[in-house]
Amino acid sequence: MGKAFGAVAGVGAVGALYAMKRSWDPLPSVKAAGFTTVDLSTCVANKLVVEKWRGKPIFVLKKTAEMVAAQSDAQNARDIVIGDDHYMVNIGLCTHLGCIPAYRDKKHDFLCACHGGEFDASGIDTKAPPPSPLVIPPFKITGNTLILGEEGPEFKKMKDAGIIA
Ligand code: FES
Repeated sequence: MGKAFGAVAGVGAVGALYAMKRSWDPLPSVKAAGFTTVDLSTCVANKLVVEKWRGKPIFVLKKTAEMVAAQSDAQNARDIVIGDDHYMVNIGLCTHLGCIPAYRDKKHDFLCACHGGEFDASGIDTKAPPPSPLVIPPFKITGNTLILGEEGPEFKKMKDAGIIA
């Protein structure tokens, strides 16, 4: 009995230590509310990268030179440009009812399976029911690093141009 009690007490102590450790760690919500950084130099053209920021999926898509050459001004205006490279950075939630659209690399567009909505590779809605483009999250660029959660000059420029609501 004494032995069994000791074992139980031991488990209890580990549990208490674990609880203490947990209280030292930041709460998950605090972590999620912070900044997320993405090294854009690791992106491969036409391969969608999905990051997480504040609990939301973030689409990062490096465009191929062919995609850039075929773009309209409206599509260009939504790009983050570093040197010759163009990137699309959008919150990956459909502006209809919030499903996560899938990237179709052959067609260079997004299909939302929930109700058939479509977006181009810049996140502009091309087929209803989505009423508006995918949302561009606040971002800042430092060198090749994308910082999500901070409003840098490139983001402010898009805001001033009316691209970001
Ligand atoms: S939620 Fe995407 S089309 Fe309805």
